[in-house]
Amino acid sequence: MTTLDKVVGGAPARIDGREKVTGAARYAYEYPVPNAVYVWPVQATIARGRVCAVHGGAALALPGVIAVLNSGNVSRLHPADDAELAVLQSADVAYRGQIVAAVVASTLEGAREAASAVRVDYDEQEHDVVLSPGNPRIFSPRKANAGFPGTVHWGDAESALAAAPAGVDATYTTPAEHASPMEPHATIAFWEGETLTLYNADQAPWMSATAIAALFGLADGAVSIVADHTGGGFGSKAVPRPPTVLAALAARAVGRPVKVAMTRQQMFSLVSYRTPTVQRVRLGAELDGRLTAVWHDALQQSSKRVEYTEQTVAASRMMYATPNSHTAHRLLQLDVPTPSWMRAPGEAPGMFALESAMDELAYALGMDPVELRIVNEPALDPESGLPFSSRNLIACLREGAARFGWAGRDPAPGVRRQGRWLVGTGVASSTYPVFTMASTATARAEPMGRFVVEIAAADIGTGARTALAQVAADELGVPMDQITILVGRSVFGPAPFAGGSMGTASWSWAVSKVCRALVRELDERSGVVPPEGLQARADTTEDLAAQGRFSRHSFGAQFAEVKVDVDSGQVRIERLLGVFAAGRIVNARTARSQFLGGMTMGISMALHEALQLDPRFGDFTNHDLATYHIASNADVRGIEAHWIDEHDDELNPVGVKGIGEVGIVGTAAAIANAVFHATGSRQRDLPITLDRVRAATHTG
Ligand code: MOS
Repeated sequence: MTTLDKVVGGAPARIDGREKVTGAARYAYEYPVPNAVYVWPVQATIARGRVCAVHGGAALALPGVIAVLNSGNVSRLHPADDAELAVLQSADVAYRGQIVAAVVASTLEGAREAASAVRVDYDEQEHDVVLSPGNPRIFSPRKANAGFPGTVHWGDAESALAAAPAGVDATYTTPAEHASPMEPHATIAFWEGETLTLYNADQAPWMSATAIAALFGLADGAVSIVADHTGGGFGSKAVPRPPTVLAALAARAVGRPVKVAMTRQQMFSLVSYRTPTVQRVRLGAELDGRLTAVWHDALQQSSKRVEYTEQTVAASRMMYATPNSHTAHRLLQLDVPTPSWMRAPGEAPGMFALESAMDELAYALGMDPVELRIVNEPALDPESGLPFSSRNLIACLREGAARFGWAGRDPAPGVRRQGRWLVGTGVASSTYPVFTMASTATARAEPMGRFVVEIAAADIGTGARTALAQVAADELGVPMDQITILVGRSVFGPAPFAGGSMGTASWSWAVSKVCRALVRELDERSGVVPPEGLQARADTTEDLAAQGRFSRHSFGAQFAEVKVDVDSGQVRIERLLGVFAAGRIVNARTARSQFLGGMTMGISMALHEALQLDPRFGDFTNHDLATYHIASNADVRGIEAHWIDEHDDELNPVGVKGIGEVGIVGTAAAIANAVFHATGSRQRDLPITLDRVRAATHTG
């Protein structure tokens, strides 16, 4: 075994790359299912009220129409924590765009046409859809997402702020954003008695199957999800969304397999979005830069049906050393769809505010922003008092500064000009927690020297199946091509989602454990595989419970160089350079792609992405990719991702931290800070659009 080179840490190409580029890789909607019919949702045209009647007669008269579904003629579901899943369970309308009826027809086009022929009568009520800071219904939630407390404080932040010789007090806003993965949400559902099979665009085959089984009151294991390939998700596919439930309900109602595929426009109402935020950050510091107080308040929205509080201030609790801290979330529940996870929920908007404020503090102190962060490096996690399992923020800052050419930077804002362009540079820190969940996996030795590893992981384009094959190859001591890795199916047993950047950390643990168990069994048989093969199964539940108490986080530093057109206000990102410390990098090729993807999404957040809500209708008006702008190739010029060689023995056997989300965190602040350096005007509201830059730089 020791004679083979380790493949973990190498850069093998995706093992499914050929399948993908030749179109052979099957996505949810593409499975051949005989006798399938199509369901098309009818969406509410009011933001709040009740459905009085669904008139389906005209739809039913159209050719090929099989059924018009409404809250009166579909199966009753069990209550779920996520009220969004109660599809067609009542006549109440909680947001504009909600599914209030649906048409099943023998063709996709027929279902679509018939859906437009369904007439719905409403009893419309006044709606409240605007996140307005003066609303008296704003409250302080006890809990935020992912188990974070709503409010945390230590010391006396108010007194420290009042006494601080230097400080910042500023308000930052981030808009609602939509994940918009490349593959729209899609499902094929079919029932065989009391078992349900779902081909589903899914980040979480096993967890989604469990949730859907509970919803339909079925036994564990009665729902089987197949998600061999999923085309991105960014959180929008991490839990079941209403279209999947609709497909299952429709299939049950008509007794045939049913297909649903979201149009891009439908997705904007039905598959979640990132909450807008209004954040106030107050920092107090000594003249040497050491923070005396961190105060961070985030106002956000949720729906009236679900209390979802994004953990926006969580990173401000552990990022920098401070003797006084107050960090709080406030929530306003509105007549809107429920916001949910989108890449780095919490950290992405929260670190825009904190890292912008740190830059403002650096200017207030006349201090280099890299040095300001370094002097505030904590010895222990400031919130929990726990040691960090590893913390290489300073290494990321120093290496980033060296690679970027930060040394000798003239901090003066608004003074570098190249023709019509103002030029500036900025820096920000990144961080993301290391989450891990228990997972199971199976490994099988087959007589001809082949091995099969099965795990209900999801490869949503990240390269997860390749990374897991690498881990298996090293543990089994064979080349990767002797391993068949099967992922994406709930039947492989309990496993967490491709979300929270915990996939590879959690799954690789189970894969490494099961492969070691199989090697032991093989050793006991002197390496002889019986004709029927030899199988091992592992579960990491107890291993996780036995972990030491540490504060576990990834870190990073991002450096941006921007040019700002003095007339139009256009911002171009000339260079974006990130250095990350994220434990062991399993696959340099797919990891780089993940970091660059996160950073690109950060560019998008900085300059483009914003859902525009029309308060009269209570809905997003820019619900397609023509009007909801995301970064395209032309927006991404020089972009580089690097990493620190980080060894952390307090994580998991492979030493993995997770890289899916840290890349988007801090990017927008690095860009906004560079825009300040270029123009001399601070951009505290995302996205940094031309009109905002012009408003700040043109007084006439
Ligand atoms: Mo990620 S937003 O947890 O899929």
